[in-house]
Amino acid sequence: MTSAIILGTGSYTPKKVVTNDDLSKIVDTSDEWIQTRTGIRERRFAEEDEATSDMALQAAERAINHARIAKESIDLIIVATMTPDMPFPSTACLLQTKLGLPCIPAFDVQAACSGFIYTLNIANNMIRSGQYKTVLVVGAEKTSSILDFEDRTTCVLFGDGASAVILSSSEESSVGLLHTDSGADGEHPEILCQPAGGSAMPATTDSVSNRQHFLKMNGKEIFKKAVRVMGQSCINSLEACHLTSDDITLVIPHQANMRIIESLAKRLEISLDKFHNNLDLYGNTSAASIGIALDEAVQAGRIKKGDLILLVAFGAGLTWGSQILRW
Ligand code: UT7
Repeated sequence: MTSAIILGTGSYTPKKVVTNDDLSKIVDTSDEWIQTRTGIRERRFAEEDEATSDMALQAAERAINHARIAKESIDLIIVATMTPDMPFPSTACLLQTKLGLPCIPAFDVQAACSGFIYTLNIANNMIRSGQYKTVLVVGAEKTSSILDFEDRTTCVLFGDGASAVILSSSEESSVGLLHTDSGADGEHPEILCQPAGGSAMPATTDSVSNRQHFLKMNGKEIFKKAVRVMGQSCINSLEACHLTSDDITLVIPHQANMRIIESLAKRLEISLDKFHNNLDLYGNTSAASIGIALDEAVQAGRIKKGDLILLVAFGAGLTWGSQILRW
């Protein structure tokens, strides 16, 4: 049976480094508070004229080079983002043109911070069905475009960046993406959302002056739910593959908060050494975060053929998911 394997990874983070001290000049916060509560030391912010699709292009080109494929062999592009260049057309279509790949299908997936896992799952199934052979999967975010720099409870948490993988069909059935467990709970959209700019609250002078176009989050509620749901999702994926925590070589969790990651490690009884984290450098880059960490781990030689990798995410929706890959 056909499987889907990652042929290459790529990532991109903007040049501009913004430290906790830099933010403490804008809002009432401190390096000490941010580091102790989250583990973040700094993040990258894109330039004003650098959109999500521009960052996606950089990450995609790196993944294509790393995969050593001709870009023309890509037959589908899927971009996970909650900060598209514009509501429509999709960022995937804009990326398709920037890459110079006319006519191939391209669309976006909106699953916030779980976007990378949702998108890999879609690409995997499209390859396994036989319809596509080589899919470019991208997670890209310009979160700084929706951050409220008057709200210290959110603006210190997020960063910008992009990541990409080339997912390709393989006849080797025991490798590649082995399993995805995913879920969503739309009961309380308000605990993490961008209220305005859609059909429920179109842009008006009021929506702008009331700061409704910015990201809003109830961090405490998200935190509680994240710890519980991420752990359970990982256990579901391990059970579905008849594996135990001991079999996992490396965990790549969504990079939102070091305390969430530590709780997850405890719940799964997997040593923190087996987690690849870069939250300190990039903050929460939403849909880009798992792919950036994955690319870093690959480039650092932390992943070898045959290794079992566990990916896990949680985000707005609420959405969540975990995935097991054999490299
Ligand atoms: O990507 C997926 C979605 N996002 C997440 O996974 C985020 C999940 N949540 C979290 O990471 C944490 O809940 C936060 C880091 C957002 C907050 O940490 P916390 O330990 O839950 O803090 P808190 O919200 O309970 O706030 C504690 C105190 C409050 O002051 P009072 O009411 O105790 O006087 C806040 O006003 O810390 C205050 N505070 C700050 N102080 C300095 C909140 N933000 C800041 C800040 N600097 N940036």
